[in-house]
Amino acid sequence: MKKLLVANFKMNGNKDFYQKVNKVVNKIAVKDTVVLCPPFVYMPYFKIKNKNVFIGTQDMAGFENGKSTGQISPNMLKDFDVTYSILGHSERRAIGETNEIVAQKVKHAIDNNIIPIICVGGKTKLDEIVEQVEAVLSSVENNNKIFFAYEPISAIGTGIQPSVNQINIRLKLIKETAKKHGFDVGVLYGGSVNMSNIREMNKTIAEGYLMGTVTKNIDELMEIFKGDYE
Ligand code: PGA
Repeated sequence: MKKLLVANFKMNGNKDFYQKVNKVVNKIAVKDTVVLCPPFVYMPYFKIKNKNVFIGTQDMAGFENGKSTGQISPNMLKDFDVTYSILGHSERRAIGETNEIVAQKVKHAIDNNIIPIICVGGKTKLDEIVEQVEAVLSSVENNNKIFFAYEPISAIGTGIQPSVNQINIRLKLIKETAKKHGFDVGVLYGGSVNMSNIREMNKTIAEGYLMGTVTKNIDELMEIFKGDYE
């Protein structure tokens, strides 16, 4: 099955970097589904010609156009062919994004045909995961395409990953919780995924990965997109 490979470039890079990413990604053969999530201001540098590559964002507002200084609405993103949006990343939850705010964003993403990739499990606690998943699902219909990414803070940018078993327990919990509410969701893992550990991560039930640090290295990122680890 095709995996969903999400590149979260975070607040890194510059014009030259993103022009290069656009150039190289259009030249390689991608067998999985790739989602590139640059900072908003660099989105216009992407002219994707690869049918397996999509543009996503790292966040968006949970409401439509209006009096909201500094925000980017989901309907604006449609002008840039945005297909996915990472929502509720732990780095955003750390600056005050609550479950209620994340749920609002998920609802508006779906209303605008943007597929949400919702980050959960920062503290890896099982009850926290259930709470975060349920908070989001209560705001949307169950016929929509939704992904959840289990992203323990302890693994983000640290090089220290949970075991295959620890990851599987949490991904199964996300799937079961969603199922109870009538949803069939996709599950991803995120936290220090790179070329040296992706084969190990492929032993988990993850249907894809959310990647941060490795996105700074264009060559390594492209190797992952090409599936060179197999
Ligand atoms: P990392 O980041 O790959 O640097 O651990 C993942 C993320 O924060 O989405």
